[in-house]
Amino acid sequence: MITETSVKNEPLSFKLTQDQQDIQAMVREIAQKEFAPRAAEVDKNHRFPRENFDLLAASDLLGLVFPEKYGGVGMDHVSYAIVVEELAKACATTSVLYSAHVSLTASPVYQWGSEEQKQKFLTPMARGEKMGAFCLSEPNSGTDSAAARCTAILTGDKFILNGAKNWITNGVEADYYLVIAQTDPALKHKGLVALMVEKGSPGFTFGKLEDKLGIRGSSTCQTIFEDTPVPVENMLGKAGDGFKVAMSTLDGGRIGIASQAVGIAQGAWDHASRYAKEREAFGKTINQFQAIQFMLAEMATEIDVARLLTYNASVAQDHGLKFTKEAAMAKLYASEVAMRSTVKCVQIFGGYGYVTDYPAERYMRDAKITEIYEGTSEVQRIVIATNMLKGQ
Ligand code: CAA
Repeated sequence: MITETSVKNEPLSFKLTQDQQDIQAMVREIAQKEFAPRAAEVDKNHRFPRENFDLLAASDLLGLVFPEKYGGVGMDHVSYAIVVEELAKACATTSVLYSAHVSLTASPVYQWGSEEQKQKFLTPMARGEKMGAFCLSEPNSGTDSAAARCTAILTGDKFILNGAKNWITNGVEADYYLVIAQTDPALKHKGLVALMVEKGSPGFTFGKLEDKLGIRGSSTCQTIFEDTPVPVENMLGKAGDGFKVAMSTLDGGRIGIASQAVGIAQGAWDHASRYAKEREAFGKTINQFQAIQFMLAEMATEIDVARLLTYNASVAQDHGLKFTKEAAMAKLYASEVAMRSTVKCVQIFGGYGYVTDYPAERYMRDAKITEIYEGTSEVQRIVIATNMLKGQ
């Protein structure tokens, strides 16, 4: 149980509940036994690990944070952060396919959807019968989400979608796509709507799969809409809520990416410390050299801070508090820690860190995206500053 917490900058101390410890042990076992052994192959072949998604579904992890009435198990968001960390420690690709499904698609349906929409879209996603994807960025608007050009023109009882969305995680693999589109450019962010679009809708196609630096097993592509009809009843919230749906979704999503970054950094630490205990130089194992000890100590300290920030944001979310700033802080810090830690991991491995025989280089490649997606580190700084300076 959390013994002491606050979103007002008081210190925190955490002790995981029995349920949180149990879920951690369960996911760790699945991830280390099933996902870690195939992570290198998934990365090398750019192969979407559908069997991992299926196992997450069979283990009731896709509905982790949703009520039982929608096919979930009703756990808290600290548990969610724990799950994402354990997945990322084993296979970053699996952690992102999971967080894009849960945080970016199922969660906004839970938060913004009507009862009918929850029954229709959330329940099958929580059960793992359908996969979700979130479509916000466009070829010409990433950070400036309000500048979306994809249009949704209301015609009778349907919106007609036209435009393209970029960098869509779970790309061709998903079934449900949460699409943010513009009804009237003159209204800027107040003209945006959030629509649930089903795969197979007329005029809905995919661009090429992206060839990425890291998380290479995740499916990333452009989604293209040409006169795609979307029933009005598929709109989350009301007309004009699209920007708020997107931003509130990203608040939760950023906790997912922070957890992913913590997992990547922890995985790199685990591999580096294990290697340092085995590798010998000058007649002793390299973990006996202060140069290596200092790197491991710095990594461990930063990882602990990143994890605490991530739990802090999750607790705020569970308490129903506004957690925009906390999520941005966690994502900013954890993603930069992931980058620093994985670079140190490669350094500890030396030449072996630079080749694919060991996972060090993969962790470093996987870490980079955490500083970019769901808002770059620069966007997190903007969000933190604007939220802290508001009203001053
Ligand atoms: N929750 C709810 N509402 C929010 C909000 C939040 N967190 N943040 C802002 N809003 C509301 C504001 O209250 C305001 O409402 P009113 O108009 O009623 O006053 C409205 O939204 C506009 O707010 P801002 O003026 O602050 O908006 P802005 O245009 O200046 O945006 C920004 C600021 C921080 C740069 C924002 O655009 C942003 O976060 N951009 C980054 C987007 C991003 O993370 N993209 C990643 C895409 S997802 C992805 O990576 C793909 C994947 O699959 C993994």
